Amino acid sequence: MIPFVDKEKISEKIRKLLKDKNAVLLAHYYQNPEIQEIADFVGDSLVLAQKAVETDAKIIVLAGVYFMAETAKILNPSRKVLIPDPEAGCSLADSCPVDDFIAFKKRYPGHTVISYVNTSAEIKKETDIICTSSNALSIVNSLPKEEKIIFAPDRNLGNYIKRLTGRENMVIWDGACHVHEEFSLEKILELKKLHPEAKILAHPECKKPILIAADYIGSTKALLDFSQKDESSVYIVATESGILYQMKKASPHKTFIPAPPIDSSCGCNDCRFMKMITLEKILTSLEEEKYAIEIDEKIRAAAEIPIRRMLDISSRSGLIR
Ligand code: 13P
Ligand code: SF4
Repeated sequence: MIPFVDKEKISEKIRKLLKDKNAVLLAHYYQNPEIQEIADFVGDSLVLAQKAVETDAKIIVLAGVYFMAETAKILNPSRKVLIPDPEAGCSLADSCPVDDFIAFKKRYPGHTVISYVNTSAEIKKETDIICTSSNALSIVNSLPKEEKIIFAPDRNLGNYIKRLTGRENMVIWDGACHVHEEFSLEKILELKKLHPEAKILAHPECKKPILIAADYIGSTKALLDFSQKDESSVYIVATESGILYQMKKASPHKTFIPAPPIDSSCGCNDCRFMKMITLEKILTSLEEEKYAIEIDEKIRAAAEIPIRRMLDISSRSGLIR
């Protein structure tokens, strides 16, 4: 752990460098609090993509995981997009290798491909419309009811949307996120016994039994908004732990309890990839302007199309923040 005084010094250096270099720091809600505190914008993956489009900064530093920085680069080919640690991947994105996905698509001709933003640029190239957990429902609903859909790569989000929309013609890739799949229903219900007044909040990447038990299901941002507007005072939160920082900040009088994972020694409600980003790595990234995202132009241009479609549909359906 870095002592508080050093953290302050590093944060100051980062803020100065951001200004001097005309750079912007975008951070996901799953980042550590000290990173969320110094970021220019903190948000879910939809907001980060929207901010990446809006910014006129010369350099974008993405405090998040690789696919988020890659998405920012796809939308900003002429700007420098930096990720402080290129090893910060995503187990969900990794669960969808491109060759297997192309073979999967071949088995379902005539299907429109909707992929979650948690995918590589190569998968985005194979996709018709990108979605995030904030807009997956409105993206699917933007298509005629009879349209056949491939949804990838998250099986829990896909099946949740399928149940909500009643669309039988949706085939779903069998991928998952190591954080959201690990929550224990049994332990959540034990916690609920201790706090009967608590509401269970769950991200749609959680397994079906957790979603059935949840009082409210939503994207990271939707869970945060709900916790502010709702009148309860205790919440059990089944998503990555980083969001609890914003929840507590917005509602200091309320209690937020992280939902326990099956194996309580594993620290699984921390995304190990998100937590690879540190203040020191952000500082080095800015000082040395590394690690710059590079994408083959053919792949980038093809991957931009389904992301732009998502942003258009989101702005038409009012999902702009
Ligand atoms: P959001 O779309 O809520 O930002 O989720 C991103 C993510 O990685 C979930 O695990
Ligand atoms: Fe990927 Fe899961 Fe981490 Fe989100 S929480 S970035 S889906 S591994």
